[in-house]
Parts: sequence; structure tokens; C-alpha cells
Amino acid sequence: MKIFLDTANVEKIRKAASMGLCDGVTTNPSIIMKEGRDHKAVIKEISSIIDGPVSVEGVGTTAEEMVKDAREFAKWGKNIVAKVPMTPEGLRAVKILSKEGIRTNVTLVFSANQGLLAAKAGASYISPFVGRLDDISQDGMELIADLTQILDNYGYEAEIIVASVRHPVHVMLSAKLGAHIATLPPDVFEKLFSHPLTDKGIKQFEEDYKKAQQSQAKK
Ligand code: E4P
Repeated sequence: MKIFLDTANVEKIRKAASMGLCDGVTTNPSIIMKEGRDHKAVIKEISSIIDGPVSVEGVGTTAEEMVKDAREFAKWGKNIVAKVPMTPEGLRAVKILSKEGIRTNVTLVFSANQGLLAAKAGASYISPFVGRLDDISQDGMELIADLTQILDNYGYEAEIIVASVRHPVHVMLSAKLGAHIATLPPDVFEKLFSHPLTDKGIKQFEEDYKKAQQSQAKK
């Protein structure tokens, strides 16, 4: 499974990339706002750090506005993907942009039927939001299972990006279900490394190493 980072924080992206663990980046207007930086400047910097897709979202509501934004975003880097919302206008924009060779990520997907329509319209990526579904007492991962099966049934090229990930269990289940990609907020990404028994084991080996050295020194 590919791992994307759901952030515009360039230090965190660089760190994950240095371990070969950042296959792409997703952003949205809220994520950009958190960094307090110019939208274009931060996206250009991210796009120069990683080779993988970098999703960029505008706020247009008509297909014409979304297409105009996407054409502009596409100038910011070779790996830019235009995010469009899951609306009839959004899918009209997907159709136009796919003909122009601009990749799209259909976002705010909350049902399998929405995902099916996005795939049919020619989306490159589809982003179902699991955490926001969990928040309203619907099982977000069930949507991933349904959508994975539907895309497989018909061989659609669109890749699923599991979005709105809130904890490591979402990541593990995404991989078990065969989702193509999960996009992780940095705090969830960092949690994937940790296990208390790993920390305990390292500490114990360190202590035993020191004890062994001290007893050798006494001989
Ligand atoms: C990514 O593409 C989404 O915009 C993001 O994962 C949404 O996450 P949230 O539901 O935590 O805002």
C-alpha cells in the first residue's frame, strides 16, 4: 500500500521522504491554512521534495472554476493532482481535465455509489473519508471494502486514497482491504513506528551491553 502524507508541513514531508516512506501528499484548504504560508509557494516546495502525486484543492463550485484552478495548479509542478469535490460539477470537471491529461482526485466521497460515479467519470484518485463517517456513527472502513470490490469488479483505473484517517487501525485495515493508498496526518504516521515492547527491548539491550562492558573491564 502506498503511504501519502496528509499535510503541507515540509519538514515532516522531508523526514518521511528520507526514509522512503512518503509516496505522495494530499492537501486541502484547511491543511494549507494551518501552515500559514502562501499556497503556491508551499505546494511548489512540496512538489520539489517528492516525486509522487501532490493533491491540491481549490474552492470553485462550477466545473469551469474547477478546471481553471486545476490548469493553474498543474503549472506548479509535474506531479500535481487537482482535487475536485464529489458533485455533478466536480465530475464534469474531471471529464474535461482527464482529456487534457490533468490528473484528478475526487474528494469528499462518503458512499460507494459516489465512488462508482467518480471512477466512471475518469478520476485518477478517489478519496473516501473514513474518519468523518465514523464521526457520524457509520463504519468508514465498510465503505473502503465496498469501493475496493467495485473498482476491482470492473477494472477501473482509479486508485482509492483512504482519507480522513484518524488512527493506526484505519491504516492497518486499509492495507488488509487492499486499498491502493492511505493518506496519513503526521501524528498517525508517527504512531505507526511505535510499540512499547520495541522501546523496552532497546532499553534492556542497552543496559545489558553496558553491564557486560563493565564486567569485562573489571577482569
Ligand atoms: C485528504 O484528502 C482529506 O482532505 C483529509 O484526509 C480530510 O481529513 P479530516 O476529515 O481529518 O479533515
